[in-house]
Amino acid sequence: MNNKNPGSDKAIVVARGLKKHYRRGIETIKALDGVDLEIHAGEMVSILGPSGSGKTTLINLLSCLDAPDAGELQIDGRSVAGLAEEDLVKVRQGILGYVFQKFHLLPTLTVAENVELPLMFLQRPVDREKTLGVLRMVDLENRAGHLPRELSGGQMQRVAIARALIADSKLIIADEPTGNLDKGNGEAVFALFRRLVLEKNLAIIVTTHNLALGALADRVITLEDGRIIDERVNRLV
Ligand SMILES: Nc1ncnc2c1ncn2[C@@H]1O[C@H](COP(=O)(O)OP(=O)(O)O)[C@@H](O)[C@H]1O
Ligand SMILES: [Mg+2]
Repeated sequence: MNNKNPGSDKAIVVARGLKKHYRRGIETIKALDGVDLEIHAGEMVSILGPSGSGKTTLINLLSCLDAPDAGELQIDGRSVAGLAEEDLVKVRQGILGYVFQKFHLLPTLTVAENVELPLMFLQRPVDREKTLGVLRMVDLENRAGHLPRELSGGQMQRVAIARALIADSKLIIADEPTGNLDKGNGEAVFALFRRLVLEKNLAIIVTTHNLALGALADRVITLEDGRIIDERVNRLV
């Protein structure tokens, strides 16, 4: 599948005027100060910006982990502003896969069992063939029975990406997924994201400190002091 698919122009994320302010003593920190954003199926968007620019705050709002103080947010056509926590969880389920900087694999479960964990929460049946198919996508099919400690950091992050894919998520959100990886493994994660966007028509939002990695996305958004200060489209082949 590619960007020319009908339906690939459907916005999976629409954010308008998103704000999140924190109070610290008498100071108000404008962690996010009016962000507009649209992200479509078949698109990989990277969010760049110095430490403290609001990347994680934005990611937490887009993944419904936190609610904005102001603004509109739609995920897959549903408005999430003002939803109670249990309804936010429902919006996330089956739509959104999250990838953490520190992988967060359970050390006593095998690779395959870690990947299948979201299905337990969703009370969906586990299908080992499907698990192996997802592991094949991240080039780890031959590690299904291994424990996380037997893997390198790059491999652990690819397991975490497989876990984000197992429930057929349309949207993958990753906050500094390469922060704990070396250059080669970081590039491999971005190349994998790129392939998933092209082959599975996913939408992927990824934050990074690394300009070179960020440039591997279709669109690069730069934050500073809670605002978008630059947005550019890459012509990738
Ligand atoms: N829970 C919080 N309470 C108070 N201030 C916060 C909180 N979370 C983030 N901030 C502040 O908001 C700003 C943006 O933080 P963050 O979104 O984590 O930036 P980034 O991910 O780009 O480093 C920073 O000034 C940070 O200190
Ligand atoms: Mg951050």
